[in-house]
Amino acid sequence: MRSVTRSSRLTPQKEAGAYYTPDPVVGSLVSWALRDDEDRLLDPSCGDGRFIRGHRNSVGIEQDPQAAMKAMSVAPWALIHEGDFFAWASATEERFDCAAGNPPFIRYQTFKGEVRARALNLCAKLGAQFSGLASSWAPFLVATASLLRRGGRMSFVVPAEIGHAPYASPLLEYLVEHFEIVHVVAVRDKLFPDLSEDCWLLHAEGYGGSTKTIRFTSVDKFNRSKRPPREFACVSIYEWRGDWKRRLRPYLMPQQARELYQLVAGDAGSQRLGELATVGIGYVSGANDFFHLRPSLAAELGIPSNLLQPTVRNGRALPEKNLTPSVVKKWIKDDDPIYLLRLPKTENLPRSVIRYIETDDAKLACEAYKCRVRTPWYSVPDVQIPDFFLTYMSGRAAGLVRNSASCTCTNSVHSVRLRDKRMISQLYDLWDTPFVQLSCELEGHPLGGGMLKLEPREASQIVLPSPMLLAELPGNAFEDAIVRMQSWRHYGTA
Ligand SMILES: C[S@@+](CC[C@H](N)C(=O)[O-])C[C@H]1O[C@@H](n2cnc3c(N)ncnc32)[C@H](O)[C@@H]1O
Repeated sequence: MRSVTRSSRLTPQKEAGAYYTPDPVVGSLVSWALRDDEDRLLDPSCGDGRFIRGHRNSVGIEQDPQAAMKAMSVAPWALIHEGDFFAWASATEERFDCAAGNPPFIRYQTFKGEVRARALNLCAKLGAQFSGLASSWAPFLVATASLLRRGGRMSFVVPAEIGHAPYASPLLEYLVEHFEIVHVVAVRDKLFPDLSEDCWLLHAEGYGGSTKTIRFTSVDKFNRSKRPPREFACVSIYEWRGDWKRRLRPYLMPQQARELYQLVAGDAGSQRLGELATVGIGYVSGANDFFHLRPSLAAELGIPSNLLQPTVRNGRALPEKNLTPSVVKKWIKDDDPIYLLRLPKTENLPRSVIRYIETDDAKLACEAYKCRVRTPWYSVPDVQIPDFFLTYMSGRAAGLVRNSASCTCTNSVHSVRLRDKRMISQLYDLWDTPFVQLSCELEGHPLGGGMLKLEPREASQIVLPSPMLLAELPGNAFEDAIVRMQSWRHYGTA
């Protein structure tokens, strides 16, 4: 589902993924899919009917009664079914020459209940196994493809997540096994100018065949066209699966940079961060206002210093490279709430602590979900002292900050713990090199608003070359590729 702002509040429009497609995109996708005036065209989520209104022989499915009525009025000759597409697709005997549209992008948190169960069951029967984390659009496209006649085509708006989200790979695997041509068109500028979501285009043809390549085109701007772009890179599905772990985003970079990157990644001296270290999230207290104490309050309450652990509350608090004791001293001088009340599970607590965990604030805190579900509620689990903090939502670049002050951290930054502490200075020196920065761009993913996000599993995949190999690499080999990847996540232009 596309979101207008980064607010997590769901409007009915967001909940249904109901954002309608601009006319030039509609016109292009319909003509990519159609070959003949007689072709039977399906739009599985037709909204107000804009994909079917220009073609006489068309069928639209729409769950929203008002939108379905609108579709009926703009395309009175078309067959419009009001209801859930997956229910209809499971029962219909109809087959189509082509399909076009813009499926709802409803994230897994909202894509639930019967509709999701139907969608995932139907796709499983068709051989595409989606996990519960799949957004609605991917199962929509598998189910749509299965309704095509031999030789059929389909052309759709898709979220740019098709280039990196793990849940997009069952879709792409299904497409390469069922179509002669699969073509992904990445569009850098927004197709929906008012929405934060980036959208790309997907075209597939020759249903009933299969292919060993994915055509990939990247363009800065969308231009109306009668046919899918003639220029494309042929991405080998073996390379896509093996070298790039089923991500298409690396193909936004020039071929030369990709080849050099793989050469370095495959070198015997290169390691993935996950081989060297454990990357995880920091602790979740459940009630930071209660558990994070200002030094003045801790002193007033008389909390023993061994129960107060200096903590990094968020990425903004971190210095650029090294968190030193003098930074922590400054936090203390500023009376920032930097002490985590780190209590053992025992009931044998000092009187000062007992008094604090019996206050009204404590009664409120122990009702918080995370506190309610642990025993005892006041003992925050998973408090670690990492070697480094890693920012997981970053602007220009992901920052790795050395922990020279024995702080812990909340889950607003990642914790990195090295297996071999002798590697600390090597990792510290490697981090800001262009190669490692590019690796962050490729292993992480865009979050909207110009941000790069690194999940722990993504951070574990960051490639760390041996210093010897790094010294041999041409100085400017990766800078252009970094700028290019940043421009595709709209860094500096958002
Ligand atoms: C992104 S809009 C696209 C509408 C139109 N095709 C367009 O692009 O302008 C997605 C549409 O899917 C509809 N929808 C959401 N879930 C559906 C479902 N399970 N079955 C049928 N339609 C659904 C929404 O009501 C919404 O109108």
